[in-house]
Amino acid sequence: MSSASNLFTPLQIRDLTIPNRLVISPMCQYSAGDGLANDWHTVHLGKFAQGGAGIVFTEAAAVQRRGRITHGDLGIWSDAHAQALSGITGFIRSMGSVSAIQLAHAGRKAAMQRPWHGNGPLDDSGHRRGEEPWQVMAPSAEPLGEGWLLPFAMSKADIAQVVEDFAAAARRSDQAGFDIAEVHAAHGYLAASFLSPVSNHRTDGYGGDRSGRSRMLLETVEAVRAVWPEGKPLFVRVSAVDGSPQGWSLEDTVELAKDLKTLGVDVIDCSSGGILGSATAAKGPPPRPGFQVPYAQAVKEEAGLMTQAVGLVLTAQQAEEIVAQGQADLVAIGREALLDPNWPLNAALALNADPEWNHWPEQYGWWLSRRAKVLEALAQASDDS
Ligand SMILES: Cc1cc2nc3c(=O)[nH]c(=O)nc-3n(C[C@H](O)[C@H](O)[C@H](O)COP(=O)(O)O)c2cc1C
Repeated sequence: MSSASNLFTPLQIRDLTIPNRLVISPMCQYSAGDGLANDWHTVHLGKFAQGGAGIVFTEAAAVQRRGRITHGDLGIWSDAHAQALSGITGFIRSMGSVSAIQLAHAGRKAAMQRPWHGNGPLDDSGHRRGEEPWQVMAPSAEPLGEGWLLPFAMSKADIAQVVEDFAAAARRSDQAGFDIAEVHAAHGYLAASFLSPVSNHRTDGYGGDRSGRSRMLLETVEAVRAVWPEGKPLFVRVSAVDGSPQGWSLEDTVELAKDLKTLGVDVIDCSSGGILGSATAAKGPPPRPGFQVPYAQAVKEEAGLMTQAVGLVLTAQQAEEIVAQGQADLVAIGREALLDPNWPLNAALALNADPEWNHWPEQYGWWLSRRAKVLEALAQASDDS
C-alpha cells in the first residue's frame, strides 16, 4: 500500500493540474546557437519529464537578443525560437508532466562568459573563441562591479520595448505549447536591477522609492498577463533578498508579491542573491539545506499567494516536509536533478508513494518493479543464510 504524500498530491492552478509538487528549476545550459534550442535541450529537458517531475522548467529564455547572459543562452525573441521549443513541450506533456518557460532579460549581466570559461564579462579570451561582447543596458549607467561592462541607462522607450518584448515572448511561448510562464525577476538581471536600490538610481518614475523601482516589473507582468491565456498559470521568480544589506529586503518582496497577486500572478518562486555578483548556486556553500525556504514561507503567509521553494533541497523527506508544513506549494530542485534526473521518481519510492513503480514510464517500470522483487528475494535469502 502506498502512503499518503503531500509531495505527490496534484496541485490545481487555474485550468492546469500539476501532477506533483516537484519542479525542475530553470537551469541555463549555455548550449544554444543564436538562442535556438537543439538536441541538447530536447534530451536535457526530456529526461526530467521521464524522471517524474511535476513541472519541467526551461532555462532562462531571453526575450531580446541582447538579453542573453552568454552567447549560448536560449532565446524566445522570434517565432523560429518558439518553433524549436514546440517539440520539447509536446514530449513533456506526453510524459504526463507540465512544461514551463522562464522569460528573461539579463540587463547589465548580459554579455558574460559561460561559467566554465570564467563566469566574468566577455573579454579577450571570448574574442579568441569568436564571442564578442555587446552593449548591455540597465536602469542606471552603472556596471555590476569593477571590470564589468558599462551599461547604458535605459530610456523610457527602451523600457517600453522590453515590456512589449516580454509580452511577445509570452505569446510565442503559448504557441510553443508551454503550460506555465515565469517572469525572471531574480539574481540581479534586468528586472531585479530595477527593483534594487543598489542598481537603480533613476530619478524618473521607474526609480526612487519601492513603488517606482517596482514599476518596470509590474508593467512587464501586466503586459504578459494580458496575452498569457487566462487558464494558464503565471509565476514570477524573485530574489527575496538581493544579496546586499542596502538592497532589496524580504519586506519589499512581500509588498511586491501583494501587487503581483492583484495583477494575476499565481506563484512567487523564491530565490535570493545576485545583485552584486553570481547568484547563490554559482558561489560557495550557502549556510544550510533549504536556506531559502523561509522566504517562500513568509511570502505565502504574508502576501497570501502560492509559493515555490528552491535551494539546497537534498532529500525526498526534506521536500515532503516543506509541502506538509505548508511552507511552500511547490519545491524546485536544480543541481540534484543534474545528478539524478529521476530524482522525483526516486523520491516517490523513498516516500513509499509509488510502491508498485507506477509513476515510472512503463518502458522502465515494468522491468524495475521485477528487479526490485528479485533484489528483495536476494536480500531475504542472504538474511536467512
Ligand atoms: C546549471 C545551472 C543553471 C542555472 N540557470 C538558472 C536560470 O536560467 N534561471 C534561474 O532563475 N536560475 C538558474 N539557476 C539557479 C537554479 O534554478 C536554482 O535556483 C539553484 O541552483 C538552487 O537550487 P539547487 O540547490 O537545487 O541547485 C541555475 C542553476 C544551475 C545549477
